[in-house]
Amino acid sequence: MGLIGCAGRSGARSDDRPAPRAVSVDLVAEPDDDEACRPCHAAIVDQWAVSQHATAWSDPVFQAGYAVDREPECRACHAPLAKGDRDPAPGSIAAKVGIACRVCHATAGVIVGPAGGGVHGGPAQPGWGTSEVCRSCHQFNFAPDTPSRRAVFDPGEWMQRTYAEWEASGSACTCQDCHMPWETDALGQRHRSHRMLGIADVDAMARAVAVMVQAELRDGSVVVTTEIAVDGQQLAHAFPTGDMFRTARLEVWPVDEPGEVQAVLMRREFGRVARPDADGRTRLWMAEVGDSRPRPGHPTRRTLRWGHAFSEVKWRLTHLRMDTARASRQGVDDSTNARVVAQGQVTVSTPRG
Ligand code: HEC
Ligand code: HEC
Ligand code: HEC
Ligand code: HEC
Ligand code: HEC
Repeated sequence: MGLIGCAGRSGARSDDRPAPRAVSVDLVAEPDDDEACRPCHAAIVDQWAVSQHATAWSDPVFQAGYAVDREPECRACHAPLAKGDRDPAPGSIAAKVGIACRVCHATAGVIVGPAGGGVHGGPAQPGWGTSEVCRSCHQFNFAPDTPSRRAVFDPGEWMQRTYAEWEASGSACTCQDCHMPWETDALGQRHRSHRMLGIADVDAMARAVAVMVQAELRDGSVVVTTEIAVDGQQLAHAFPTGDMFRTARLEVWPVDEPGEVQAVLMRREFGRVARPDADGRTRLWMAEVGDSRPRPGHPTRRTLRWGHAFSEVKWRLTHLRMDTARASRQGVDDSTNARVVAQGQVTVSTPRG
């Protein structure tokens, strides 16, 4: 993600695409989009292939989570081409291509996109530049409660709610403005990037999130005030967003005493809440009971205190896919789980007079 200039939520787009030629793709005979689309959309296919959309099923971090919470619903988003009520077979196309081109671009066997007509002959579809395209997968409830499968989480609660966070931010940018910026490929064709950079783009995180740390000596104690703020021009939802276990962690410690570290955790908190179920019976559901993540216009502020004096503090902001205890339980190593976003050092000031 680079400099962002947003046209507004209507998602204005350019129409300078190549002149139509009469070609078509047989979506049934060529089920592997990686191969079927590559001859003519090589740049887009290459970008998509390294995106988390392409690896939505094969990704080891998804598989580690799926191993402990194996619901049929998971496949609808992580292996949308899987057939029937089973996991896609290892090595099958559905397992390999994840959220393939056709998941977004095919309806009733016809390739569709923003322009319409042209070589694929689909209808023109307005709205491709709007955040609605992303909503169905990036905003959803916990699994339903049924007599055969009793839910632990209140099904009325959001498992992910990035779309609502984006809406509340009031940003003029759509998801595509930031996650699918326009690019020109080697053949001079303009298209939207399909890399869908998110947590892989640590530079974008560092640009979007500002950390303020101030330390002061007060009555023999060191008091550190911290603020983590999100720049709404660069990031238009909470930091982090997405998966329910995403956590940002600010660690602060005296330079000479690394063991004295204190941490601010920014995440959605879940706990037990008594609420009626669909039959009116009171149940103890798991539900969201707190949210300490910074979002545009709402920084996270905390004060930390050490009961002794020292002169320098260090700090480090890390994005975690999940908290470290959960990661080690699931066998996700630290280098996969954690990304250092920013770090620094400040001098402890002494009050004047
Ligand atoms: C033989 C070449 C060729 C193949 C193969 C091909 N495309 Fe295209 N596609 C084009 C050309 C050329 C355009 C742009 C001009 C046009 O639409 O006429 C295009 C446009 C598109 C568009 C934009 C359509 C719109 O309405 O805005 C989409 C989406 C698309 N292709 C998806 C795919 C997918 C998905 C595959 C693989 C399943 C694929 N294409 C395979 C040549 C091809
Ligand atoms: C103004 C730019 C901007 C807009 C608009 C925006 N994002 Fe993001 N998004 C970012 C940046 C920067 C990051 C990296 C920081 C982070 O992880 O939060 C990010 C991260 C993410 C992530 C990674 C989650 C994680 O672990 O933190 C997801 C998923 C995501 N965005 C989805 C969306 C969706 C869906 C929309 C639209 C509803 C959207 N974004 C709108 C800038 C934006
Ligand atoms: C997650 C949904 C999604 C997936 C998966 C996806 N696309 Fe797209 N694609 C979009 C959106 C959204 C746009 C249009 C954005 C706009 O016009 O503002 C688009 C636009 C296009 C266009 C028109 C040119 C452009 O960039 O606007 C082509 C061609 C295209 N996609 C091809 C592909 C191919 C090939 C694949 C698979 C390798 C693919 N797409 C996978 C969402 C997707
Ligand atoms: C068919 C469902 C689906 C649709 C539609 C969809 N996504 Fe996703 N997206 C996913 C899944 C599933 C993942 C996570 C894959 C994984 O890591 O296991 C993901 C991952 C991402 C990420 C990477 C998050 C990270 O942690 O870095 C970004 C960014 C993203 N999507 C943006 C978008 C945008 C923008 C759109 C709309 C143009 C969109 N997605 C539409 C299902 C979808
Ligand atoms: C409605 C669509 C949807 C459903 C259903 C869904 N997910 Fe996801 N999942 C996503 C999206 C979108 C992301 C990307 C968010 C992000 O990157 O933070 C994601 C991310 C994840 C991740 C993090 C992957 C990573 O790269 O860090 C795990 C683990 C995961 N999902 C597990 C599951 C499990 C297990 C289920 C079933 C209980 C499930 N998901 C059901 C859409 C879905």
